[in-house]
Amino acid sequence: MFKQALTKIPYGGDYNPDQWPKDIWDEDMRLFQLAGIDIATINVFSWALNQPDEKTYSFDWLDEVMDYLHKHQIKVCLGTGTAAHPAWMAKRYPDVLTVDFEGRKRKFGRRHNSCPNSPTYRKYAREMVQRLAERYKAHPALLLWHVNNEYGVQCYCDQCQTAFQEWLQRKYGTLDALNTAWNTRFWGHMFYDWDEIVLPNRLSEHIDSRRPEVTVFQGISLDYTRFNSDSLLDCYLLERDAIKAVIPEAIVTTNFQSNGTYKPLDYFKWAKALDVVALDCYPTNDMPMSHTAMRHDLMRGLKDGMPYMLMESCPSQLNWKPQNPLKRPGITKLWSYQAIAHGADSVMYFQLRRSIGAFEKFHGALIDHAGHEHTRVFREAAELGKELERIGDRLLDSRIKTRVGLLFDWENWWAIDYSSGPSVDLNYLNEIQNYYDALYEQNIQVDLIGVDTDFSRYDLILAPVLYMVKAGLKEKLEQFVGRGGTFVTTFFSGIVNESDLVTTGGYPGELRHLLGIWVEEIDALFPEQKNTMVMVEELEGFKASYDCGLLCDLIHAEGAEVLAQYGQDFYQGIPVLTCNRFEKGQAWYVGTSPEPEFLKHFVRKLTQEKHIYPILNAPENIEVSVREKDGKQFMFLLNHNKERAQVILDSESQEDVLSGEAVSGRIEIPAKGVRILQLPI
Ligand code: GLA
Ligand code: ZN
Repeated sequence: MFKQALTKIPYGGDYNPDQWPKDIWDEDMRLFQLAGIDIATINVFSWALNQPDEKTYSFDWLDEVMDYLHKHQIKVCLGTGTAAHPAWMAKRYPDVLTVDFEGRKRKFGRRHNSCPNSPTYRKYAREMVQRLAERYKAHPALLLWHVNNEYGVQCYCDQCQTAFQEWLQRKYGTLDALNTAWNTRFWGHMFYDWDEIVLPNRLSEHIDSRRPEVTVFQGISLDYTRFNSDSLLDCYLLERDAIKAVIPEAIVTTNFQSNGTYKPLDYFKWAKALDVVALDCYPTNDMPMSHTAMRHDLMRGLKDGMPYMLMESCPSQLNWKPQNPLKRPGITKLWSYQAIAHGADSVMYFQLRRSIGAFEKFHGALIDHAGHEHTRVFREAAELGKELERIGDRLLDSRIKTRVGLLFDWENWWAIDYSSGPSVDLNYLNEIQNYYDALYEQNIQVDLIGVDTDFSRYDLILAPVLYMVKAGLKEKLEQFVGRGGTFVTTFFSGIVNESDLVTTGGYPGELRHLLGIWVEEIDALFPEQKNTMVMVEELEGFKASYDCGLLCDLIHAEGAEVLAQYGQDFYQGIPVLTCNRFEKGQAWYVGTSPEPEFLKHFVRKLTQEKHIYPILNAPENIEVSVREKDGKQFMFLLNHNKERAQVILDSESQEDVLSGEAVSGRIEIPAKGVRILQLPI
């Protein structure tokens, strides 16, 4: 849908002409043209401007901006503006204001500030969007819709509480079912009426302000998290549907935050309601590039490999960190291409012109406070603009094809973090990242997949810390392995069902049969404490022993082959790495968190067995990825090193997409530089 509207990779970002006197707009257009900007996201925080009071709507400025942008061949990503309610609304209808985790009713201020279950908020948001859709439905500049902004508020007000009770009634039907699911006989929590249920926050089940994830009732907190994600999704759907009622073919999205791993919202569920996934990506200078790479792969995975939008990124410097270093020369381009290399079909910045007042006046922008094009940031951005023009439509809608899937599940994440024990050091994202890194370092592409993804496309599926096994997942995994797939899971897996109730009879519960093991106990190690994994027999490509830590599952093999055992402590000699042959496939269990070197060797063995090989043998910190379309392959070589690097190409004469030249053999990639090569068919 999105692809049909495009002829090249859109390049632009958030633009706030409403914060500036009009006489600057001409200058904006001149600079946009110089930089190759062709898309602007507008109206994201303009509710108060568009609706000065309850009855008055005034879109004159927006009409003018839309026409003006169109005249200058800039496409519009139209914000609906509902992420910050007007002050008059908060004053007149306090139900739009949220109650925070501590139980305090907020006053007007900030943004992302509306209670998702406020009738007033929903009514006026719908009304606003209807008006926008009616007004701009035929506007030639309109490319797509940007609903709200970075959804994510948590509210604990009374109307949310009532909505939660109703949500629970729909989910459980009876209080008996709810009491069972929440195990309410624990600490005498039985509920005899729906309205006895209160929201889990600092005033009820959560006991520590500094660690809001600590709850004494996992079932309640887990359902609240689901409910809150759903409440916000309802707000999105209400706007999306209002737009589509007027413009059925509209392309509608909302921007995902925190580089895509935003914990409170189940983005797999959300993505189904979006026409195209849109990511706000703000890596910091000290973040390993594999972290960002993984998040890009996750965004691509949310809609089964469909390209997504890089909706926001920063062309220079952030403002919301304690220290906000400049992006070093080359980095804006390199990181923009990294997004494209992983499946993004747009490059967009926050923001196009740096504002003069309030919170974001020191946030980087294409046009700096200096106001002209003679800046390092502008020059680099303009270079990228030229390159994107040159690339044209060649990369648009190209896909990444891989047979390796890495399973990621939001509800699993929530449940792990809400669990008290066995260790606060267990960090789901880190464990996923560890496995990702082992693939990334070997330039093996991977899809981040959800529990609903079609597994049959994959030969290898890795599911670190699959603590929660949802209904139907066991069967799906057994089928995958039964048909010949290789499945890997780890310590602390198969423990609970969707209600966070333990599956009794020995961990990994429902996965016990598939894995051919059972786990009797789980040891938690102190941060500096280590154990070792000692290989039972010499195995090609492996060392004799590896360090491990964090958690150690004490495993009994019941059918699975034991490949490594613990080297220390009272459980020395107990299995730590097992492989079960299950019908035509293999199911592996890694009972602890191993050192990275083990994962590297392990992943190499697993992929080679499936005839999956690195795209290219490249020096360290050269990221390689391939996108394909119409039988053509495009290879991205991203040099994250501070020094130039050399790569030896496998095949003869490839076309360098950026220079148009034919290249072959040994090629050079400048420090922090990028090459995109079209491979011969
Ligand atoms: C988020 C928001 C933007 C802006 C940027 C600044 O991504 O969506 O409105 O505040 O952060 O980094
Ligand atoms: Zn509320």
